[in-house]
Amino acid sequence: MASKFQAPRGTSDALPADAHARARVEGAAAAICARAGYEPIATPIFEDTELFERGVGRSTDIVRKEMFTFEDKGGRSVTLRPEGTAPICRAYLEHGMQKLAQPVKLFYAGPFFRHERPQAGRYRQFHQIGVEAIGTDSPLADAEVIGLLSDLLAELGVPGVELRLGSLGSPESRRDYLEELKDHLRANEGELSKEVRERIEINPLRAFDADDEGTRGVMRGAPTIVESLEGEDAEHFGEVRALLDAAGISYEIDPTLVRGLDYYTRTIFSFVCEGLGAQSEVGGGGRYDGLIEQLGGPPTPAIGWAAGIERILLALGEEEAGAGRDAFLAAADDEQRPRALALAGELRNAGLSAEVDLAGRGLKGQLKHADRIGARRVVILDADGGAQLRDMESGEQRPVDPANVLEELGE
Ligand code: HAM
Repeated sequence: MASKFQAPRGTSDALPADAHARARVEGAAAAICARAGYEPIATPIFEDTELFERGVGRSTDIVRKEMFTFEDKGGRSVTLRPEGTAPICRAYLEHGMQKLAQPVKLFYAGPFFRHERPQAGRYRQFHQIGVEAIGTDSPLADAEVIGLLSDLLAELGVPGVELRLGSLGSPESRRDYLEELKDHLRANEGELSKEVRERIEINPLRAFDADDEGTRGVMRGAPTIVESLEGEDAEHFGEVRALLDAAGISYEIDPTLVRGLDYYTRTIFSFVCEGLGAQSEVGGGGRYDGLIEQLGGPPTPAIGWAAGIERILLALGEEEAGAGRDAFLAAADDEQRPRALALAGELRNAGLSAEVDLAGRGLKGQLKHADRIGARRVVILDADGGAQLRDMESGEQRPVDPANVLEELGE
């Protein structure tokens, strides 16, 4: 009978095949980041709600609609983390990491929570890997972190990946740009969709995403933030581009690129995979030079990204094959079961993967089971104290000295 309980909407169980696949992505990311000197960090799953209100921004969809917020028994408002950057900046300040050699380079992986409408590639509990390089405004850091995600996606074999790059400039230049954009929208108000018209003052950037013909026509002539960059912002963006060119990382400038978090300044980027449909971004991030100050710290420029593990796996579109086993220890009769278990222990201690039957199967059933779990060899422990080694691929079987099983398997 089916259980009446199901995993909550927008969440899922990672059964062994998925859990293997997730671990592989996390492992590859951790290894690539470690080689570049990014140290692991783990922050709590929940934080003070205000951290996200101040960090991510009160006007963002994440804070307005998507947070899992509740009151704890002490009457404090806490929130399941919707993202990792604000918590890591909190930890950076709390532990005085500004006194360490800068930048502080960190890597993280874990679950995040957003109350979104679930669909393929969008969940309420999802898993990210991410990096943050805190304490540098050098364009070298921008190119380095972008290079890390590019390398990871290439190593995993994610097909059809494109990098979109943009820059938001500084908060001041961004404000000037938004005024210019609003002027353009107001001047062409008659051709805009009702929705865009109503949001000119609140979120004029959304107009770039509209799909009605009228608005799209107006947006073709709209000023873009990348064109309006000036002075040091323009110079910084130019250097990031030159470094990516020198590293052979191809990208497309997307003058309309926007991100759903308020803390970004200057460089922003997004790795998309067309095969993914509506939720096409596998990972993205950018600079957040003002965030640490926003949280009460000294001015501290920083940059980072996060990538969604589920989206990477969807893009890979593969079912991970089980890992297989080096050996299965089969008992010819019940008396041989303790020998089988003891030998399995020896093999495991020597670093091999080995299993025994735990379900009281007869010898035939054990061989069938060994095949099912992908055992490459079976050691049959005979009633007379002897043993036989069976190669499951060729079906070949020969007697072996039970004392030499480890050597025989090591061949
Ligand atoms: P984000 O763009 O909100 O950025 O999320 C990063 C990635 O997490 C997305 O590209 C996507 O792959 C995945 N993701 C986001 N929401 C969901 C969801 N509901 N279901 C499945 N996957 C999802 C951040 O979180 C920033 N903290 C990134 C960053 C780090 N910026 C600077 N440093």
